[in-house]
Amino acid sequence: MQSLLNKKIVLGISGGIAAYKSAELARLLIQEGASVQVVMTEAAQQFVTPVTMQALSGNPVFTSQWDSSVANNMAHIELSRSADAILIAPASADLMAKLSLGLADDLLTTLCLARDCSLLLAPAMNKQMWEHAATHRSVARLTQDSVALLGPASGAQACGEVGMGRMLEPAEITEQLIAFFQKKPLAGKKVLITAGPTFEAIDPVRGITNRSSGKMGFAIARAAVEAGAQVHLVAGPCDLETPLEATGKISRTNVISAKEMHAATMNSIDCDVFFAVAAVADWGIAKPSKEKIKRQGKQSPNLEFIANPDILLDMAKIVRTKAGKPHPYCVGFAAESTDLANHANEKRKRKGIPMVVGNIGPDTFGSDLNQLLIIDESGSKKMAKAEKLQLARQLIQLVAKKI
Ligand code: C5P
Repeated sequence: MQSLLNKKIVLGISGGIAAYKSAELARLLIQEGASVQVVMTEAAQQFVTPVTMQALSGNPVFTSQWDSSVANNMAHIELSRSADAILIAPASADLMAKLSLGLADDLLTTLCLARDCSLLLAPAMNKQMWEHAATHRSVARLTQDSVALLGPASGAQACGEVGMGRMLEPAEITEQLIAFFQKKPLAGKKVLITAGPTFEAIDPVRGITNRSSGKMGFAIARAAVEAGAQVHLVAGPCDLETPLEATGKISRTNVISAKEMHAATMNSIDCDVFFAVAAVADWGIAKPSKEKIKRQGKQSPNLEFIANPDILLDMAKIVRTKAGKPHPYCVGFAAESTDLANHANEKRKRKGIPMVVGNIGPDTFGSDLNQLLIIDESGSKKMAKAEKLQLARQLIQLVAKKI
């Protein structure tokens, strides 16, 4: 799925060593379906050449406001008129200061001032420059002018120091630009999500788990952040990266067992929507061995099972009786091998929740594709097979309407 299809992006590059990453950024934006028009400042051309950017973007690069090849010699007006967004990466301290004052002494600053579209900046500078009061003033003014800042991040810098001011990675900038274009029906809402499998220890090296990859839950987390929510993700053991982490709109608790997942979820009950996407083990081992269980000839160990708490059931109960708190809209998930619609609806009623989402088909585990059946009080509706992120976005829009 290309999340930036038909979007026209002006990619501005100012002078900073992070400019070498703009080449990769241009590639990623194009991969997502955007058309990219690069505009470089004079200083940017000291770090990366227009030829490189032209080859990657497939468009001639603009470097001067005196370019006579543009109709009426008005490149700044033409470019900002046709763009869906101007993204400047890296945005140097100098460029941010100029933009915050409305200065327009080269093509990039001029087209920002003349723009009729959103402006997003990915700052990149040495940590002293980022922490300087003058930069703070620039950031405050730019924020007031509705300019979106993507990052910066903290970490090792080209100058050898470690601290705030690193440009976000191209993949993070791309994720955030995609998020920027999504509708925001969950702005101001809190969303809690369980995702992934759980692992029930038998002894220090063995355990019982399941085939859940966590991809659906993580896709819902990403779609919820994109929709403007503050998200808390309670994740079972899976090695997926937290989506849109650099936005600061998502937090994560990693857990292993169902009991830990239950405790972490109960710690975060103050939410507007709860998605129970995790494949929680129904039973744990009553007394996991502290030492590795040795083989005893042909005799197999006697494992005693104990039922795990039902996180979704408890969540629906607790919050409903919690005075003064808004009732979170609880969404359960169901993976059944037979008669999905009936089992899922029965599950919805038994758990006392308004919506259950059924995973159709046996190939959902680990796949990027899925097909969902939405079941609520009004009946059931099949969603077309699609990428999990696309389904997650549709589901978020649907739930947003319910609340
Ligand atoms: O029928 P089952 O209880 O497995 O229903 C599945 C739904 O319940 C899923 O949304 C799953 O995340 C949630 N669940 C849970 N805690 C459990 C078992 C399931 O939250 N112990």
